[in-house]
Amino acid sequence: MQYKAIIFDLDGVLVFTDKYHYLAWKKLADRLGIDFTEKDNDRLRGVSREESFDIILEKYQGDPIPEDKKKEYLEEKNDIYRESLGEMTKDDVTDEVRKTLLGLREAGYRLAIGSSSKNTAYILERCELTDAFDKVADGTMITRSKPDPEVFLKAAQFLGENPSDCLVVEDADAGITAAHAAGMDAVAIGAAGSGRADYNISSFKELLDILCE
Ligand code: BG6
Ligand code: MG
Repeated sequence: MQYKAIIFDLDGVLVFTDKYHYLAWKKLADRLGIDFTEKDNDRLRGVSREESFDIILEKYQGDPIPEDKKKEYLEEKNDIYRESLGEMTKDDVTDEVRKTLLGLREAGYRLAIGSSSKNTAYILERCELTDAFDKVADGTMITRSKPDPEVFLKAAQFLGENPSDCLVVEDADAGITAAHAAGMDAVAIGAAGSGRADYNISSFKELLDILCE
């Protein structure tokens, strides 16, 4: 086998939380008089909560916002987002994703999460997906988010594997950059990676074709 472990991004790869992120940011942006579109939301993929807010504020034209007020806004956004996450159930993970994860495990791969989200544990728990992974590295364990490789290197370290033995699965440009910076190959799912990924797939189950042939 060319790889020993697979490290999965969470949001946009295993679960479709992007819409909840968008709606929560949109509510805040509206209050601040910022025009925030779904296209803008795409720029936030893989990026930490704090950096996401800085990107949104690029279009802000009001009075300067003090740091403590920014923190309040970030908490407010997260509260709205968590409310949506609270509605998630195991049905928010497709059979295709569950079966593919199982197939990869049966084939002998070790599986980990490498996500910038500080809500990772909550999402995995809501969707009953925690047990599908050997290790989890997430936004609560890092100081620099993607495109920095820290979260993927941490996942490899938790797994006890060399980075070159790990393959990353990502939906974000920042995630493909992070994987390569970690010395890992990357699979882009959907439009991510702008042609820079080592493999491109349009559906999750194609991972089995790449890894279990
Ligand atoms: C990433 C998402 O997984 O997590 C980003 O792609 C998000 O859009 C980031 O900003 C941080 O998420 P959270 O849950 O810590 O606010
Ligand atoms: Mg993602």
